[in-house]
Amino acid sequence: MRRLLALAILSTAPAGVWADEPLRYEDGAATFKANCAVCHRPNGAGTAGLAPPVTVYPPRFVATAEGRRQLVLTSLYGMYGEISVEDRRYNFKMPEFSRLDDATLAATLNHVVFDLGRAPAEAKPIEAAEIAAERTIAVDGAEVRAHRESVIGRLPQ
Ligand code: HEC
Repeated sequence: MRRLLALAILSTAPAGVWADEPLRYEDGAATFKANCAVCHRPNGAGTAGLAPPVTVYPPRFVATAEGRRQLVLTSLYGMYGEISVEDRRYNFKMPEFSRLDDATLAATLNHVVFDLGRAPAEAKPIEAAEIAAERTIAVDGAEVRAHRESVIGRLPQ
């Protein structure tokens, strides 16, 4: 019985996502698969030379107000300019996704942060209102990248 259950979980989880735990954000997973996985892969590990893993910084960003804002800005407005993640460099354009509604973007980011990135369970999920708050002024992808640098400089260790 237990083995059957494990098989059922394995067969529904996207490849590479931790098979021992059910997804917390299934709607977010579906949106991620449809819009993001082509570059970041279904498990968020990224594509060398093209798109960074989303499992390294996003689960850390969610812990601070500016980090949360960084996640929201990246998904709403995209980002370009060189970044580095775990000593690998990336310099390609992350598209903007402002066409997705607030609840959809929040669920997608929560899938990234909690299901793929495994942020601590007690971290506060991103709320739709946090997305809505950043829609008032459009931000250029180069500014999103500059903001990322300042956020990383102030992350708790
Ligand atoms: C066309 C490829 C592509 C698609 C599709 C894409 N991204 Fe990205 N993403 C990138 C690239 C490239 C970067 C890094 C940009 C840079 O170098 O400045 C990035 C960066 C990110 C980051 C920042 C990671 C960090 O360490 O700061 C997050 C978060 C992210 N993407 C989430 C998403 C989400 C969520 C979606 C779907 C809604 C998505 N991406 C779709 C290419 C893509």
